[in-house]
Amino acid sequence: MKGSHVSTETISPVRVLIPAADIRKRVAEIAAAIDRDYATDRPLYLIGILKGSFVFLADLARCVTRPVRLDFIGISSYGSRRSSSGEVKLTKDLDGSVEGADVLVVEDIVDSGITLNYLSHVLAQRKPRSVRIAALLDKPSRRVCPVDVAYVGFEIPDEFVVGYGLDFAELYRNLPDVCILDEPPSA
Ligand code: IMP
Ligand code: MG
Repeated sequence: MKGSHVSTETISPVRVLIPAADIRKRVAEIAAAIDRDYATDRPLYLIGILKGSFVFLADLARCVTRPVRLDFIGISSYGSRRSSSGEVKLTKDLDGSVEGADVLVVEDIVDSGITLNYLSHVLAQRKPRSVRIAALLDKPSRRVCPVDVAYVGFEIPDEFVVGYGLDFAELYRNLPDVCILDEPPSA
């Protein structure tokens, strides 16, 4: 395996925290709020943070009725460890310019806030018309950097979660529910 991925053949058991049906309902509510909040017919520029946002972004984009453009950005801060190293770097940039665009950053989870704080600064330099953040999950008890999240799916306790795009060591992303990893990675 490449990079910092843990080489693991054993799959730890998981417990469902948020069932797929609840996620579906909440994503539809968020999409309705987005449709209401962006009153004009200018396209919304959805930016998914790789890789964890890919499922949320796919579902959200299909629930929003207004025109959207979308792109992905890669930011790494985590590796396979539980807590952020505090070091953040851009691993894949956007393909195009966001100048003048209404940007909605789509993220799987806000934990320390380091990733989104960094990304907000990067995007602000590129002169978008507006920038907001939508995060499926929020762990407010772990916040280190302040982040203004306009749309939050669910606030969750300080548990390590996987599924619906979220991974541990690149596993579990395909689980349809958000689940708690029973043997959480150590810090
Ligand atoms: P932050 O920079 O500490 O807010 O970290 C955000 C990133 O850490 C997220 O985009 C996830 O990739 C990862 N992360 C934080 N908490 C979890 C978790 O419980 N499970 C899986 N990934 C997580
Ligand atoms: Mg992430």
